Amino acid sequence: MDGLDAVKKKYLDGILAAGDEAALEDLRLAAIGKKGEVALMMRELGRMDPEERKTAGPALNALKDEINSALAARKASLGDAALEERLATEWLDVTLAGRTRRQGSIHPVSQVTEEVTAIFADMGFTVAEGPQVETDWFNFDALNIPAEHPTRTEMDTFYMHRDADDDRPPHVLRTHTSPVQIRHMQAHGAPCRIIAPGRVYRADYDQTHTPMFHQVEGLALDKALSMANLKWVLEEFFAAFFEIDGIKTRFRASHFPFTEPSAEVDIQCSWVNGQLKIGEGDDWMEVLGSGMVHPKVLAAGGVDAEKYQGFAFGMGIDRIAMLKYGIPDLRAFFDSDLRWLRHYGFAALDAPNLHAGLSR
Ligand code: DAH
Repeated sequence: MDGLDAVKKKYLDGILAAGDEAALEDLRLAAIGKKGEVALMMRELGRMDPEERKTAGPALNALKDEINSALAARKASLGDAALEERLATEWLDVTLAGRTRRQGSIHPVSQVTEEVTAIFADMGFTVAEGPQVETDWFNFDALNIPAEHPTRTEMDTFYMHRDADDDRPPHVLRTHTSPVQIRHMQAHGAPCRIIAPGRVYRADYDQTHTPMFHQVEGLALDKALSMANLKWVLEEFFAAFFEIDGIKTRFRASHFPFTEPSAEVDIQCSWVNGQLKIGEGDDWMEVLGSGMVHPKVLAAGGVDAEKYQGFAFGMGIDRIAMLKYGIPDLRAFFDSDLRWLRHYGFAALDAPNLHAGLSR
């Protein structure tokens, strides 16, 4: 086997000179692959006489091992060289200034919802929620608004589509947050003290109406609650919300099917040169509906009207946001115009709370 040294030299030199992994693989196949040169020589062993085989066998095995380790060593050094090269060329200047990204802002509706929640939480109210797609029973019947009642048409209700053969009761997009009263009473009974902020829907569109808007409902039930408690709670609320001590309110007799008696509540304001100011002057601005919960509504909620009574109110969140922050057009609330959001939005870290002030 004189040729062995020449074969060895050919492959070891080749491996050392290989410039990449593909070249190494070609050499591996040519030398020790199934049909490689060394493999073919090994096949010759069968034809040798035993003496000759004794020396040729181990020599061929040793050659194969040597080629294998040369391949592994070269592969490792190629890898190292590649890494060196990347380390030398790919680098990052950590002293460069960062790319500035504009911060988002909190939408006035979210901000005001948080403010309202903070104020009522301070008076012991918890937050309740209900679905935006309601059955007409929760949205109307349970609130003492029977099928033929004019309120159903006045509210410009969106009805969910029904196929001709679908006989489920009608579903609506809730027209107010009042159905949450019923759901809360059914689930938790009395006594209770809750507010329920959320989205409501009516087919209406102009400067002060959008098809989707926000309300906050209030409900307080106990054994001896009266209109006086309602008045105190609302006056506390307006004083805190508008940050005006002793802000005047006016309760006007009104009518809602779900309260008896019912009152609409106005807050004191002035109009000077087309400028609205809350908490001064002798004009009035209507801000909410309220009253003592109707016994039929208590019954629909499974509450014993002989034992419990209480008050409820409903107020437009977008509306009081417009009043507090001087925003003239409701439609712009939902246009997602970045300029508007930057102008009227709030810093994310300014979470409203009663001690630091509601907003800055
Ligand atoms: N649900 C009424 C509306 O959307 C507002 C309202 C009035 C709610 C009186 C009440 C209430 O809870 O007592 O116009």
